[in-house]
Amino acid sequence: MKIIFASGNKGKVREVKSIFSENNVEILSLEEIGFTGDIIENGNTFEENAFIKADTIFQKYNLPVIADDSGLVVDQLNGQPGIYSARFAGENATYDDNNKKLISELDEFPEPHSAKFICCAVFVDAKNRISVFGELPGEIISEYRGTNGFGFDPIFIPENYKITLAEMNLAEKNKISHRAKAFVKLKQILQQITSQQ
Ligand code: IMP
Repeated sequence: MKIIFASGNKGKVREVKSIFSENNVEILSLEEIGFTGDIIENGNTFEENAFIKADTIFQKYNLPVIADDSGLVVDQLNGQPGIYSARFAGENATYDDNNKKLISELDEFPEPHSAKFICCAVFVDAKNRISVFGELPGEIISEYRGTNGFGFDPIFIPENYKITLAEMNLAEKNKISHRAKAFVKLKQILQQITSQQ
């Protein structure tokens, strides 16, 4: 079974391909199917944005699609940056720009800077529209540690850990991450659906 993963984020593609690697499923990234367009994420929630990505690609290719929308929710910033995580420091912000802005905004607050990652993963095909969620609680630190992963990984220490997500390898991050939790749930639901067909 071929499923398109509606994401242009190389870090996410690596993680999601690894989660589905033992299954009888071939995950195709947007790069692999040659999609180069822009998808405007103008939803108000993680779930709305995930469905916007999946629906856009399903309508164009008519193949089953998975997509996700994710972000970081920081308590001391009243839940920001949330769904705006990718563009926290502006429209074309780099990961480094976003990390620096976050560290600087948290500077005036006492530690620990509690936060959580949230991921909504969705599946869309001709018959199904499914959404599931995963979360990873932890805290933001004010220095970069580690070079693996992407986004806020170098400044995020998961609860009950002493290392950042960027100090973990892919397999370790995929045991605990918000995205892994959501996509493992989705994978189990897809296995049930395909076994009934
Ligand atoms: P999306 O592509 O619209 O879902 O934006 C996700 C943004 O949230 C990314 O650009 C990162 O800034 C942040 N983010 C989501 N998941 C992760 C993660 O696993 N590690 C680090 N940052 C993440």
